[in-house]
Amino acid sequence: MDKTVEICGLSKAYTQGHEQILVLDDLDFHISRGEFVSIVGPSGSGKSTLLNLVGLLDDAYSGEIRLFGRRMEDLDEAQKAVLRLKSIGFVFQFDSLLPEFTVLENIELPARLLKNAGTADGLELLRRFGLEEIAQKFPMDISGGEKQRAAMLRALRNSPALLIADEPTGNLDRHNSGVILDDLKSASGLGAAVLMVTHNEEAARRADRVLRMTAGKLEIIK
Ligand SMILES: Nc1ncnc2c1ncn2[C@@H]1O[C@H](COP(=O)(O)OP(=O)(O)OP(=O)(O)O)[C@@H](O)[C@H]1O
Ligand SMILES: [Mg+2]
Repeated sequence: MDKTVEICGLSKAYTQGHEQILVLDDLDFHISRGEFVSIVGPSGSGKSTLLNLVGLLDDAYSGEIRLFGRRMEDLDEAQKAVLRLKSIGFVFQFDSLLPEFTVLENIELPARLLKNAGTADGLELLRRFGLEEIAQKFPMDISGGEKQRAAMLRALRNSPALLIADEPTGNLDRHNSGVILDDLKSASGLGAAVLMVTHNEEAARRADRVLRMTAGKLEIIK
């Protein structure tokens, strides 16, 4: 069986003064291709810490992280940078579009950084998600929901095998949250493994599987 993400015995601690604070405590889980997994849990329980490790934004941990069948410990910084650009998409709570570029230019950025861009071009992505009318607009001229969707399309631009979303609906109303969740579902339908953190239990339940993080431990709740 395909395992896009395989986590085995993953732990992480921060040092505070003389104390070691265990933030992730011996986690095991996996995500397959096309699977949409959400994580819920209280503030400070370690959700973002986990996403940052899985997304290769942080590499201080013990245990094993395998992405696409490869052990991340075996890769050097340059190899990890390529993997982040080619194979991993990120969406955060606050959109991060560059204000001096149009929506389409923003979405094209990850492809420009890669010689071998993914299959779909930015305009095709905007069409597929029903957003072609905002292609030439600047971020300041579109709504918060549209910005978040544009940031998501940028994350999808290089057809990542793994899409990581940290509270992607945290800043949106119910309607726009629903739209973003539909988009994430579509992304998993296109074959990406999707890993989302959310505070919203209703949003979480839209995923195929739901995990709850409590004090650095994960339990399956759906
Ligand atoms: N750089 C750091 N140094 C020390 N402690 C940290 C650091 N980053 C995070 N922590 C601590 O690790 C714990 C987990 O933080 P994390 O950001 O993963 O929580 P979270 O579950 O994402 O919370 P939220 O829902 O509020 O986003 C918290 O207690 C936090 O204070
Ligand atoms: Mg967080």
